[in-house]
Amino acid sequence: MPVITCIEDLRRLHKARVPRMFFDYCESGSYTEQTFRENVSDFARLRLRQKVAVDMSNRSIAGSMLGQKVTMPVALAPVGFTGMQSADGEIKAARAAEAFGVPFTLSTMSICSIEDVAAHTTAPFWFQLYVMKDWDFVGSALDRAKKAGCSALVLTLDLQILGQRHKDLKNGLSAPPKPTLANILDIATKWRWAYGMAQTKRHSFGNIVGHAKGVKDLSSLGSWTAEQFDPQLDWGKIARIRDMWGGKLILKGVLDEDDARRAADFGCDAMIVSNHGGRQLDGALSSIRRLPGIVRAVGDQAEVWMDSGIRSGQDVLKAIAMGAKATLIGRSYIYGLGAMGQAGVTAALEVIAKEIDTTMALCGERDIKNFGAHNLMIPKDFEGDWKD
Ligand code: GLV
Repeated sequence: MPVITCIEDLRRLHKARVPRMFFDYCESGSYTEQTFRENVSDFARLRLRQKVAVDMSNRSIAGSMLGQKVTMPVALAPVGFTGMQSADGEIKAARAAEAFGVPFTLSTMSICSIEDVAAHTTAPFWFQLYVMKDWDFVGSALDRAKKAGCSALVLTLDLQILGQRHKDLKNGLSAPPKPTLANILDIATKWRWAYGMAQTKRHSFGNIVGHAKGVKDLSSLGSWTAEQFDPQLDWGKIARIRDMWGGKLILKGVLDEDDARRAADFGCDAMIVSNHGGRQLDGALSSIRRLPGIVRAVGDQAEVWMDSGIRSGQDVLKAIAMGAKATLIGRSYIYGLGAMGQAGVTAALEVIAKEIDTTMALCGERDIKNFGAHNLMIPKDFEGDWKD
């Protein structure tokens, strides 16, 4: 068993062990990848304030998300193709999250279906929905999520049209991979992955195949989004979904203060400040730079969470200090899954939890609930001075 000391260790193993098209899918941003890179590099511009000679015994990193107790304020974000990173990947990730005590979100574009994940877990998970043109599909996905006991709906707002990720087109990304010579040669070097995949029947989009009508190529994210996602999504349709769902609603993909006010007035339970991990609008500012303005705009009308760029417990603390009530990780746990399956997701969560705990102590705090702006050094120009 390799010694894992940081998320980067998992990333390297993921790259070595998983077919290139799936590692690249995870590791891509759209177009020039500027936003993808800056999501990470902007975290590094924030500095933590060291405090000494304070009691650092009896620490707590526990929090809550929508009233649900969490071991640390970190949920697993919805990620497409997760069951292609490791056989039955969504089940493995959900089980790791459950054992650790953090929420798991199942993507619409998952390989394991809602029912599959529900059958292999006991804790309720969250379901992420893309708004489709086909309201029968939307209605049945919501009914299936309710039946499976999903405790919140995450509605993604920033992917009605797909930002281009060059590598996915060049690699011919699909689930399952097509039997081309390049794929066969690549998979031949990824024996762990291939062995796992040979043991499971879950090789295509479990929430879609058999549930969606009129999609030409069900193995491709590109054709599904282009044909099915509703480009006319507006607040009226979001309200329709809220009414159909009737439970807790999390709006994901808010990056603008006016949108955030609108989302808060609309009455969502939580919103996620996100640029989709830099995978959609390339050239947008990083989530961590947009976070403080949005926190000010929303006040306590809704919980404000953030994702995009978190690769460590230090990053989680920086997001909390900038005003996020909680955070979500995508790549950080997918690296673990690709590297070592369920144990790798657990390793990712453990790495982050330990980093939070130690870093918080070195900042002179014993409870993450007290971690705040006073623990941070923020460059004066961090939020930017932009023309109206
Ligand atoms: C969403 O499914 C994505 O690929 O970003």
